[in-house]
Amino acid sequence: MRLDIAVLGGDGIGPEVVAQSLKCLRSVEETFGHTFRFKKALIGAEAIDKKGTPLPDETLKICKNSDAILFGAIGMPKFDGNPNAKVWPEQGLLKLRKELDLFANIRPVKVFPALIKQSPLNKKLIKDTDLVIYRELSGGIYYGNKSIDSGTNVATDTCSYSEEEISRITHLAFKAAKNRRKKVTLVDKANVLETSRLWRRVLNSIAQSYPEIELETLFIDNAAVQMILNPSQFDVILTDNMFGDILSDQGSVLAGSIGLLPSASVGTEHAMFEPIHGSYPDAKDKNIANPVAAILSAGMLLQHFKLNEEADALVAAVLKSFSKKIVTPDIMGSSKYGTNYVGDFIADNIMELDDHFNMN
Ligand code: IPM
Ligand code: MN
Repeated sequence: MRLDIAVLGGDGIGPEVVAQSLKCLRSVEETFGHTFRFKKALIGAEAIDKKGTPLPDETLKICKNSDAILFGAIGMPKFDGNPNAKVWPEQGLLKLRKELDLFANIRPVKVFPALIKQSPLNKKLIKDTDLVIYRELSGGIYYGNKSIDSGTNVATDTCSYSEEEISRITHLAFKAAKNRRKKVTLVDKANVLETSRLWRRVLNSIAQSYPEIELETLFIDNAAVQMILNPSQFDVILTDNMFGDILSDQGSVLAGSIGLLPSASVGTEHAMFEPIHGSYPDAKDKNIANPVAAILSAGMLLQHFKLNEEADALVAAVLKSFSKKIVTPDIMGSSKYGTNYVGDFIADNIMELDDHFNMN
């Protein structure tokens, strides 16, 4: 298969972890005989410094003309600390998601048996965790009207959702549940928010067309507790943009490190693959960042194009790195292995598998 892939390293550790994904995709290319063409483009703080905008037109064009996008991370502290800044890096990512209509952000959370000791949580409670968060990504409070009245110092962010925005991601979540354990949990705040009440109405009606799927609803505050106390009760979690952002970071505690969790952001025409973690600026260029979230995001890219054997081979190589303890210091404090070494190990161990490979 030929694929044109836009590569947006972004800020902080983004470029160095994405470099490891590229090594792995090169290895997949050689092992399975594909042709992947990578095209790098600017986004975030570097784009602001060089082009005055976090998402230059050129970058958007490259993304629109690609089959898929690999994204690293975004955000730099010099912008967070400046309330008067007119532009900041995160706007680039938000605009990109909107322009490409990437409305569904899919974030799997699994506990890897080889790493279960890393989680600070009760091992017995988390061992069977295998859930996926379907986070709505192009609406809600992230994109509602915003204003600040500098006279009265009143700031406003509006949260709004249309029936159409809710229904398109709901269908994706129900379809995903069909191939899994057949349960969807809608996480919301329907005891307070009008948008949540609309989500419930839309879901209740869509659920009629999926009689084999169990639909459950949970308030976000309770869901946050349940995710720590009893995560194996969840199969597909469906939620809005903001709740999904928060809940997926919390999910990373189950896995043992936020450096492990990948994601896919999909729409009807485009797809982008991004780790759930941020730019971790303190670790930039120190060769300590965990590349696994970025590498598994490349694995989700392969799955997206139905290159399932290839994706399995990549995941098998990642699991091998865990069992051989070839991991970065966030996983094992005493580890002497850096980003590059772990990336090389995984890329070198991508090989055709026999039929007996078991993803766990
Ligand atoms: C994420 C990130 C982004 C988000 C930030 C960087 C804007 O936290 O992808 O989870 O909030 O969506
Ligand atoms: Mn986040």
